[in-house]
Amino acid sequence: MPDSKYYIDLDNEYCAHNYHPIPVVISKAEGVWVYDPEGNKYIDCLSAYSSQNTGHCHPEIIKALKEQADKVTLTSRAFYNDMMGPFLKKLCEVVGPHINDPNNSGIMALPMNTGTEAVSSGLKVARAWGYIKKKIPKNEAKIIVCRDNFHGRSITIAGFSTDIEAVRYYGNFGPYTPGFIIIPYGDAEELENIILEIGPEKVAAFLFEPIQGEAGVKIPPEGYIKKVREICTKYNVLMIADEIQTGFGRTGAFFGCDHENVKPDAMLLGKALGGGVYPVSAIVTTKDIIGPDVIKPGTHGSTFGGNPLASAVAMKSLEIHIDDHLAQRAKEFGGYFLEGLRNIAKKKTIVPIKEVRGKGLLLAIEFESDARHIVEMFKDKGVLAKHTHSTIIRFAPPLIITKDQIDWALKIIENVLVA
Ligand SMILES: Cc1ncc(COP(=O)(O)O)c(C=O)c1O
Repeated sequence: MPDSKYYIDLDNEYCAHNYHPIPVVISKAEGVWVYDPEGNKYIDCLSAYSSQNTGHCHPEIIKALKEQADKVTLTSRAFYNDMMGPFLKKLCEVVGPHINDPNNSGIMALPMNTGTEAVSSGLKVARAWGYIKKKIPKNEAKIIVCRDNFHGRSITIAGFSTDIEAVRYYGNFGPYTPGFIIIPYGDAEELENIILEIGPEKVAAFLFEPIQGEAGVKIPPEGYIKKVREICTKYNVLMIADEIQTGFGRTGAFFGCDHENVKPDAMLLGKALGGGVYPVSAIVTTKDIIGPDVIKPGTHGSTFGGNPLASAVAMKSLEIHIDDHLAQRAKEFGGYFLEGLRNIAKKKTIVPIKEVRGKGLLLAIEFESDARHIVEMFKDKGVLAKHTHSTIIRFAPPLIITKDQIDWALKIIENVLVA
């Protein structure tokens, strides 16, 4: 079998350099463990950016994938298939109780593939709802977003990012889509101010993350989500929660908004929905917002969205998240992991630590200076994690992780950091 260097060289030669990976090649994986071609074993503390909640190659998800692969995989939405309906029924039943539906209009979903597509769909739905239902004058709809957001990398989404270097790429992807207004994250007062400044009658939606994952696990102040709910209701502005990274138990509650018992008007879901094997995403909202008077045939679509293979996998992923109480596990073991990291931070570390924070199994250490060399040192000792914004290392292992496995990871993290 060729060695790791062979595969890294191939990537460098043939793949556009849109990532700068940690130099490890993963050729096998099971649960929380991944292996390189040389047979070295690592604990995965990134989980494909929170997509591997159920652990790598979960046997039941792989079984569902294989069984469906033998029947029918892709039909396109030109025809019906016998898997999408059952999947979306289950998704709406599971997510519905977390969605604000004041008129009891019912819950509906729109299936897509990647998180970015779920966000794009949410933006289109918000604008269409704004014009059709809220009667915003044509081309005047505004959507408010947050500083340091990460919602994906399409050209529109890149345009309302504040990551000048990476996502906006210094204007090299411009001109950007108009109609988005950026406000500070975690500041509900600012949300109300900007709605009043724009004119509430022109604001279609507020899009936010319950915890900003890519920004470095930024947790908003207590009560923020509740205040956002009140403001959005007051001004008839759609509250759209991007739960693509925080959803399905990652933060120790089924959804990030649950921490404040808040129901957004629409939820954007992805990552872990696909069970770590297949891209599956969706917007889940009410019939009032996405019903046939707003989204009509031909107005939005995706060749792969809602395909039978994705539906089979996602249905099984949902089932495992619920049956195995993964949110509860994340709460319990996340607290344990966080405490372990905080104990390490009390010691003298090779790079000074500014803060340790997190909720559930979405954790981070923020360093005073660059941390890339630290993730490489972790890798050399058997822990895979990734830095974000150069000084922050996120720890987001599969939610099936055990206490012993956390101890295993903590020991290595301490050995590296406390010289
Ligand atoms: C909150 C959030 N939204 C959207 C996305 C984009 O998802 P994808 O990479 O599947 O397009 C991400 C990805 O990290 C994310 O964290």
